[in-house]
Amino acid sequence: MTTITKKNELFSREEIARRVREIGSQISNDYSGRSVLLVGILKGAFVFMADLARHIQCPCQLDFARISSYGDKTVSAGSLQIIMDVSMSIEGRDVLLVDDIVDSGLTLHNYAQYLKTMNPGSLKTVALIDKTARREKLVELDYCGFKVEDGFIVGYGLDCAEDYRNLDCLYLLDM
Ligand code: IMP
Ligand code: MG
Repeated sequence: MTTITKKNELFSREEIARRVREIGSQISNDYSGRSVLLVGILKGAFVFMADLARHIQCPCQLDFARISSYGDKTVSAGSLQIIMDVSMSIEGRDVLLVDDIVDSGLTLHNYAQYLKTMNPGSLKTVALIDKTARREKLVELDYCGFKVEDGFIVGYGLDCAEDYRNLDCLYLLDM
């Protein structure tokens, strides 16, 4: 496990908090008068989703799914495996799919396509980070915290081989 220092910091606690607050109020406006069902993709989205949910002012329910695409490596395997599916019925619901980071786009694209077959009333996507360098599938995020080009990012829920998820800001890992 590589040691993380201040020089690895990419986005501070304050910067993250500000963006999450801004996205939360955008979502609150857009879903005003409706009830939104947040579907978080585990494990990476758990910190972002916890903070985001507390900045959403309209009625809000939560569910989670777990998708495997990565092993304990830093390169995407490119295939989608649903390890744990949503537990609630999403039919007719206003669903907002929440992910930590979009890299190749395969996870979010494929899982969103799958969820659409369950006839949600609407389906939007939010990710904390949009990482563009290795995009394979076009993913049009409805809400996005930060856009970065490349690099392996950890902290605030994001891991490298399960480490660093507990760090309270986002760091760029030295590779
Ligand atoms: P994609 O399917 O290639 O878009 O990968 C999405 C998933 O890969 C994310 O939900 C993350 O769990 C993981 N991932 C991609 N890039 C990073 C990174 O820089 N740090 C940590 N996890 C990442
Ligand atoms: Mg991960």
